[in-house]
Amino acid sequence: TNDVCPQAPEDPLFGLMAAYRRDTDPKKIDLGIGAYRDDNAKPWVLPVVKQADKLLHNDPELNHEYLPIAGLPDFTSASQKLILGKKSPAIQEKRAVAVQTISGTGAVHLGALFLARFYNPSNSDAKAVYVSTPTWANHNQIFGNVKLPVKGYPYFSKQTKGLDFDGMIGAIEGAPEGSIILLHACAHNPTGVDPTQEQWKKIAEVMKAKHHFPFFDTAYQGFASGSLEKDGWAINYFVEQGFELLIAQSYAKNFGLYGERAGCFHFITSPGSHAAETVSRVGSQLAILQRSEISNPPAYGARIASLVLNDDKLFAQWEEDLRTMSGRIIEMRKVLRSKLEELGTPGTWNHITDQIGMFSFTGLNPDQVNKLREKFHIYMTQNGRISMAGLNTKNIDYFAKSVDSVVKE
Ligand code: LMR
Repeated sequence: TNDVCPQAPEDPLFGLMAAYRRDTDPKKIDLGIGAYRDDNAKPWVLPVVKQADKLLHNDPELNHEYLPIAGLPDFTSASQKLILGKKSPAIQEKRAVAVQTISGTGAVHLGALFLARFYNPSNSDAKAVYVSTPTWANHNQIFGNVKLPVKGYPYFSKQTKGLDFDGMIGAIEGAPEGSIILLHACAHNPTGVDPTQEQWKKIAEVMKAKHHFPFFDTAYQGFASGSLEKDGWAINYFVEQGFELLIAQSYAKNFGLYGERAGCFHFITSPGSHAAETVSRVGSQLAILQRSEISNPPAYGARIASLVLNDDKLFAQWEEDLRTMSGRIIEMRKVLRSKLEELGTPGTWNHITDQIGMFSFTGLNPDQVNKLREKFHIYMTQNGRISMAGLNTKNIDYFAKSVDSVVKE
């Protein structure tokens, strides 16, 4: 009956994607889901992925056997190096363990499940996850599914359309000692607003004093600063500070492997004589959880990423492809800002170029978002987030004029 299984609402983001597909107006623009598009609004298969694909298909040894429970070893070890750095003491000292997952969502889920089972703070009030307000909508559902209470810390300032640093630090300081704090490593989704290095240092300091447990989500490495290394800076700073922490890593965006579900979950423990034993125990439990949930991860995306990550030439090509994507997005930010400023659209628009990564949090309200959709066939999430990659040289003029029209109304 209805009480046992009531009708659930459609997922807002995938619902938006479906509505866009149904719209037959030629002027329609998709700024919804965070997926890279080229200047013709088409999905872009990275040239390096095409090369790796060819290598895979020419491999006479290729078969469709199961991967190990923890995934493709060449992939997980390269993923560790990508996020922690090739010379990372955490890797050398065997303080890190990695498990291949169903992209970033699977990695957040595996981490959530692990924490629900094994995180045992002395203060039971601390068994909650603090996420930024706002955060990627799926975070709330994933932690909710494993019955971990989710609480929010302030993050976005509506006034400056930048970081509400005081609010963030205050809430982290005020959280019960030993709380789990979810942090976006770079290119925050949905706001495009990241802490500076100085601010990260302060966040680490407060978290250390309060014995909080960091859980990093990294889905946009290579999209924020244009450098893979710089985009991993915050995580590495925390590792250097000796935190025990978790990382959920996605290759959907930076390899364009959206549907292949390539990702990785990492556990890193603090330096000390028990480190290797801790890592072994945690790894054994992760394997049990993984086996019952997905048995073993899918091979194709991990094989592609692994070929690229483990080959210097392909890696260099990948970095170039990343620059192509992030460069086009940065260009669109500049053009959009200057067009809105030229049109005299009420408000300030510097946040469009100040924010980074795939998204911009425009400040458009739900009413304006609805008008853009109904009158102009422009699709974006209700919170006013736009996926910058949906803009291109052909539609940006129409977009700016449409925004101008709804803001002036
Ligand atoms: C997004 O936020 O648009 C992406 O991360 C896609 C998703 O799975 O939600």
